[in-house]
Amino acid sequence: MSKFVINGKRRLCGEVEVQGAKNSSLPILAATLLTKGENVLLNCPTLTDVDAAMRILRYLGCSVDKVGSAVLVNSDGMNRSDIPDDLMREMRSSIVFIGAVLARFRNATLSFPGGCELGPRPIDLHLKALRKMGVDITERHGILECSAPKGLHGAKIALSFPSVGATENIILAAATAQGTTTITNAAREPEIVDLCEFLCDAGAEIYGAGEGTILIDGKSELYAVSHTIIPDRIVAASLMSAAAVTGSEITLSGIIPSHLSSIIPVFEEAGCSVSCKHGRMKFSAPEHMRALSMLRTMPYPGFPTDAQAPLMAVAAVCDGTSVFVENIFENRFKHVGEMCRLGADISVQGKVAVVNGARPLYGANVEAEDLRGAAGLITAALAAEGTTEVGGIKYLMRGYESYEKVLSDLGADVRKI
Ligand code: UD1
Repeated sequence: MSKFVINGKRRLCGEVEVQGAKNSSLPILAATLLTKGENVLLNCPTLTDVDAAMRILRYLGCSVDKVGSAVLVNSDGMNRSDIPDDLMREMRSSIVFIGAVLARFRNATLSFPGGCELGPRPIDLHLKALRKMGVDITERHGILECSAPKGLHGAKIALSFPSVGATENIILAAATAQGTTTITNAAREPEIVDLCEFLCDAGAEIYGAGEGTILIDGKSELYAVSHTIIPDRIVAASLMSAAAVTGSEITLSGIIPSHLSSIIPVFEEAGCSVSCKHGRMKFSAPEHMRALSMLRTMPYPGFPTDAQAPLMAVAAVCDGTSVFVENIFENRFKHVGEMCRLGADISVQGKVAVVNGARPLYGANVEAEDLRGAAGLITAALAAEGTTEVGGIKYLMRGYESYEKVLSDLGADVRKI
């Protein structure tokens, strides 16, 4: 059981490179199932979720190597289309393999991902779309049995919500399907664009990635490529939050500012200064920040739900009252009770959290219950007087690579025990 021990109130300074995006790496690892030959994925972060995806690929018969931040995947030897329950449970996002396995093998058997720490995480949109593409799906005893004996075919798919995972699964299923698929109300996240860039380099024909309508012309064969994963915008937002709560000045390198277009203005309104040039961001925070305007989590390009917890730690130290409305996941305020143990004044009603800022934060023992909540509690601990122990670091390790080292290199007093 790993913990972070954090002595707060240290100023941060210096420069760090932002890691590659977890949420790009996972669908692109799944996409390697569609290609012939050896893929090289560069800037792939070292995370437990990435390890879980690599274990799934190996189980399916692929050869997978990780050398530093490069992952080499050759799926020519893929020889099975089932994913066992224990591998599915390791990572809820493993559902993103369903479209790729089906595309490659015309059948797939995997366990239903069920609920997760963010509350129920339905996959009805994924299944409805795959059925439209010619897949028979039966759900029995928590197992999904999917088969498309005649192969997958293109379809017109209108999503009732721009689900990131459903959009990715449809793209993966459609890239080598017979005919044309259109997705309306598609998710527009940068990670979708990254997946499509990988697939297009591999020979796929995809138009409109990053827009609300995506058109995919199925191709019979795709070929392995070398691809660099985009930087992780949520890790960037977390590091901006860490600098903000400690009144610090830091530089983030390897970022794509346009991916942070809903995040940067939030910090600027609080009084922080942000300037971006040539993939580097200079960020500095004043001694006292103003309250954040109302933050509503929305699908991209709106404010990301994944940045809500770190920003809540920022709101806890701002002057005045900030309001958060969580529109994406039901159960995403689990960090609130623990943040209050550190002295924050936050009340929650339904999907709204009201943060009365500028209360003194002090060290305490707290426990993270999900990935982004862990990042939020660590951010609050950096602002707290005294020592905080943050438990539940196994969640953090799903999405943040060597976060204790990244923060220590910036001057924070953080140890992992
Ligand atoms: C992805 C991200 C996650 C992020 C989320 C929202 C990955 C690996 N994870 O998760 O970090 O927080 O996008 O930006 O990329 N929904 C349905 N039916 C479905 C699918 C989704 O009702 O079939 C609902 C979900 O319950 C949720 C909302 O749609 O309320 C958003 O989910 P979705 O966009 O699918 O998120 P994920 O792909 O799971």
